[in-house]
Amino acid sequence: MIYRKHLTRPLAMALCLVAAAMGSSLTQAKTFRVAVGDAAGGTQHELGLKFAEEFKARTGGQHDAKLFLNGQLGSEEDTINNAAMGTLDFSILAINNVTPFSPSVGVLTLPYMIQSLDDAKTLTQSEIGQGLIDNTVRDAGVRIIGWAYSGFRVLTNSKQPVTRVEDLQGLQIRVPKNEIMIDTYRAWGINPTPMAWSETFTGLQLKVVDGQDNPYITVAAMKFDEVQKYVTNIRYLFSIEPLVVSESVFQEQSAEVQQAILEAGKAATAHSEAWLVAQEGKIKQELTAKGMLIADPANGEQEWIELAVSKVWPKYYDQLGKDQLNTALKALGRDPI
Ligand code: MLT
Repeated sequence: MIYRKHLTRPLAMALCLVAAAMGSSLTQAKTFRVAVGDAAGGTQHELGLKFAEEFKARTGGQHDAKLFLNGQLGSEEDTINNAAMGTLDFSILAINNVTPFSPSVGVLTLPYMIQSLDDAKTLTQSEIGQGLIDNTVRDAGVRIIGWAYSGFRVLTNSKQPVTRVEDLQGLQIRVPKNEIMIDTYRAWGINPTPMAWSETFTGLQLKVVDGQDNPYITVAAMKFDEVQKYVTNIRYLFSIEPLVVSESVFQEQSAEVQQAILEAGKAATAHSEAWLVAQEGKIKQELTAKGMLIADPANGEQEWIELAVSKVWPKYYDQLGKDQLNTALKALGRDPI
């Protein structure tokens, strides 16, 4: 009543029409739960905040989305499972933790496939990306509705500078439970330690593992600078972190709410890209100021690239399909395999 007094007639009528057009599902307000694997201040958080803001606006303030940061709703593996079962609405997690549930998205985690932010956008926002979304609905019961771009995963460790593959030998490196990433470290001559993301900070702190890889923004958000000293700018994986909605939850919504979800996801994706570009350099400087020592791989990363590509790619030709890989390579303007 209080608000109505201040509305002009055309505005009030417009709001009524919007509400009517949005259908009955808007009559029951709902706060959707969004699990976020990372802590505040990272790209996952930014994507989630923008999604929540846009979603609320697009439902005329009727529906809302609440973020649960820092793995509060479980490990990233748990949250994708829970979303698949419909007991969780949304999750934001790293693509490498989606791959075990939807193998075809492994095309995004093959070492050195994505060599720039533009490559990441090309693969996620094109027909190839739509194919990956469809496959993930089919294989994992979740629908990707937004993408956060987080930059290249850099290697960090607490023991020694690493610029050559030989420097890596003897280090215990945590990797996600992702076969392609495990195989990449094996190609570099070590047996990495698969560990859930939610356990990684403690693993580093207690020195169960010496190092890990993740983008600069994630390293800062997770305060890894408190337990890690050396950074190596390897560029084998450009980190992409999708926002997924439970497919069963999505299908329960009216067409208007589904549209609001999809549009809010798109707006959040655009925001994520701009945010990465604005933040990454600044965050890298902050990590240096906090005492992290950053090095580039020797010889332009050549030995890292050659080992990973020659040993890992052929192993995944069957699983990922040479056709899919060649479509991706063509979209990126590279030679087919
Ligand atoms: C991982 O290393 O498991 C993920 O990249 C972490 C994340 O979600 O940021």
